[in-house]
Amino acid sequence: MRRYFFLGCLIISGFVTNAQTKITPESIKDKMQWFADAKLGIFIHEGIYAVNGIDESWSFYNKKVGYADYMKQLAGFTLKNYNPTQWADLISESGACYAVITTKHHDGVAMYDTKMNALSSVKATPAKKDLIKPFFEELRKRNIKCGAYFSLIDWSHPDYPGFMKDSNRYAVQNDYERWAKFQHFFQGQIKEVSTMFNPDLWWFDGDWEHSAEEWQSEKVRNIILAKNPKAIINGRLQGYGDYATPEQNFPVTRPSYNWWELCMTTNDNWGFHHDNNWKTPYEVISIFVDAVANGGNLLLDMGPREDGTIPDEQVNVMKELGAWNKRNGEAIFNTIGGIPQGYFYGSSTLSKDSTTLYLFVHAKVPGTLMLKGLFNKIQDITVLGTEKKLSHKIVGKISWSYVPGLVYIDVPEGVQDKYITVLKLKLEGPVKLYKGKGGFD
Ligand code: GLC
Repeated sequence: MRRYFFLGCLIISGFVTNAQTKITPESIKDKMQWFADAKLGIFIHEGIYAVNGIDESWSFYNKKVGYADYMKQLAGFTLKNYNPTQWADLISESGACYAVITTKHHDGVAMYDTKMNALSSVKATPAKKDLIKPFFEELRKRNIKCGAYFSLIDWSHPDYPGFMKDSNRYAVQNDYERWAKFQHFFQGQIKEVSTMFNPDLWWFDGDWEHSAEEWQSEKVRNIILAKNPKAIINGRLQGYGDYATPEQNFPVTRPSYNWWELCMTTNDNWGFHHDNNWKTPYEVISIFVDAVANGGNLLLDMGPREDGTIPDEQVNVMKELGAWNKRNGEAIFNTIGGIPQGYFYGSSTLSKDSTTLYLFVHAKVPGTLMLKGLFNKIQDITVLGTEKKLSHKIVGKISWSYVPGLVYIDVPEGVQDKYITVLKLKLEGPVKLYKGKGGFD
């Protein structure tokens, strides 16, 4: 099992970059392959909001606290127990193949040594540290891809129009020169992040406050790709990104995007917060499985404390997720989304050649499962993480009809995973499904 687990990340390392590469749909497909195979990413929101454990940036924007009080947190941001090796070890243990960290949130406090202004963890906090560089170094040692979250919005910048809800500094259409100063500023920071850290993935946020023309999204995309043509850009750049990012909302049916990623918190907040509404390991794993079965990834968030330590509950979820991945990762990493709902009342994935079908059986319930409309013969059924082989019965196959019978699989006591059990069905040939109405069509 372990072999499959680590294969996930190894396969995605080692792209050759080529500054001449033209972005055509084919080359996009090629550069997206590691992302499609990765399935699990870890999001990290670290910033001064962790000092008081309040909403990241939004707390002053929404007037829950005054701006001056919010900024007082600068003085309490120490990162004194920051251990990027431990962070990277934990991420690796979870099974994640990429991580995305806040280089700057909407509050404008850069977590690296920006030269564009003095508002950074290095120059404006007692931490005096760059959060990003040592973290990316540790990730890269483990073949984990490095993602930079970057907020386009910068509510602290004097030339940014938005400040707090109901109070803007100015309107772009009334003062293009002032907006041009901000464009120079934020694009300068993007160039810095690009040269200093060379992210594999850019995770923009806050594009909703301005149009593609105002952000100069195409130019921003080109700045990034000029440095790293293989860089992946999330879908928050007003139409100039590569993949969709549903946030905290779970698609019910399979999204039609080529690539998508559900970003989700482990409690109800992105940054460290006084919030004990933790999702259980079972809940996180079932959401993860659901995303992968529907062709997507999960970007699971952690919010470390201001000193850089990670709350125990988050550590626990990551470890349990990792242990589950070690047992069942074969059904997750390097697979493709499963068969449509209706054939099996649960989540499923397929091997890339579609000859192996993985069925996810929720909770610990033993019993009989039913599979409908499968033309293929089943060669073999095993329970991942065990040596157990299961038998099956074909019910209702009529000799004169081409319509497939129903497959009943008995899941006995004692083979269940602690969280979600995976059945591996080896099929004769690539999966072929019946799409008719029961023989009358
Ligand atoms: C948002 C929020 C933000 C959070 C992000 C994560 O859109 O503005 O606070 O960092 O989503 O997905």
